[in-house]
Amino acid sequence: MDSAVINVEYEQPAPGADDAGGSAACTTRQAWARVPPEPSATERAALKERVRRLLRERDAVMVSHYYVHPDLQDLAEETGGLVSDSLEMARFGRDHPAGTLVVSGVRFMGETAKILSPQKRVLMPDLEANCSLDLGCPVDAFGAFCDQHPDRTVVVYANTSAAVKARADWMVTSSCALDVVRALDAQGHKILWGPDRHLGDYIRRETGADMLSWQGACIVHDEFKAVELALLKEAHPGAKVLVHPEAAADVIALADAVGSTSGILNAARRMEATEFIVATDTGLLHKLRMLNPGKTFIEAPTAGNGATCKSCAHCPWMAMNGLADVARVLETGAGEIQVDPALGLRARVPIDRMLAFTAGLRNGQPPGSLVAGIGAA
Ligand code: 13P
Ligand code: SF4
Repeated sequence: MDSAVINVEYEQPAPGADDAGGSAACTTRQAWARVPPEPSATERAALKERVRRLLRERDAVMVSHYYVHPDLQDLAEETGGLVSDSLEMARFGRDHPAGTLVVSGVRFMGETAKILSPQKRVLMPDLEANCSLDLGCPVDAFGAFCDQHPDRTVVVYANTSAAVKARADWMVTSSCALDVVRALDAQGHKILWGPDRHLGDYIRRETGADMLSWQGACIVHDEFKAVELALLKEAHPGAKVLVHPEAAADVIALADAVGSTSGILNAARRMEATEFIVATDTGLLHKLRMLNPGKTFIEAPTAGNGATCKSCAHCPWMAMNGLADVARVLETGAGEIQVDPALGLRARVPIDRMLAFTAGLRNGQPPGSLVAGIGAA
């Protein structure tokens, strides 16, 4: 089997970008500097009220990811919107009748919403909120990688730009990646995967598929440490370990359950243990604690607060999303996601395939019938 061939500096700025703002890629350092200050209790109540009113007036709905500030999660649910993983964010945004979607999360989530609903206005609290996987997978280099392997079916993670999706046969999120790749493998496909090396390795280990992988990483999940996690497990012998598959293989090896953010939530509810160690962004703890009042959730250890810790288990780009900016973009229409319509049409193909595949699986259709004839095989 081919080994992985592309190594990337995953925090590299986009080609042509500079540090002066505008088109510059927002590094972790810049992202932390842009995290909005916590509003006071009075300010928070006033901002929430303003957002509720604006949502009504502007025919808008909030779609939030589990990693953003609890205020943005709770407000989304309370106003008839959604807080969820990236797969359900895409489906909800596509199906909701509102003319405006306010997507709190990172850029690829807003782009996916716009690609699926080009007629809707998609607003984000901060358009510079990006993702190390997206930043580490520039389309020119990824396209050249694909060109070198025309015999492979290109499967990309949702955490990519619209341009990278436009190069792909399939898009997946971590909640359906195993099912899609297993079905493709059963049909004889060889896979070119990008950009997350850990998720790619996990899929390869679980499915046995022939996969060639881009070498990007999530700066949050890359920081969880297996040695320290093993020690924490010893100190909490009854605790179950829940891990997102963007973590490294030695961390996943210690897991009692591996899954997407919604997969982790389901596991915590399903399992009888009362104590859990959680190796994903700390933003998920809000929902985990809310849904499981009798259970205790402990953060898995990261590199610590030293020089090597870029996130300490919280995504700096997710942290850029704030209540005041939700109100501001609703008020002014700033922060609108734009995707070139022609590019969007092409990028929509692999997203639609994923949504049709997962809907088909839910309806009991055989996976093979859902991937037949799609890809390089
Ligand atoms: P989920 O699809 O599991 O919500 O993950 C998105 C993400 O960015 C994880 O880091
Ligand atoms: Fe990207 Fe990681 Fe942040 Fe998720 S947590 S958006 S994968 S950098």
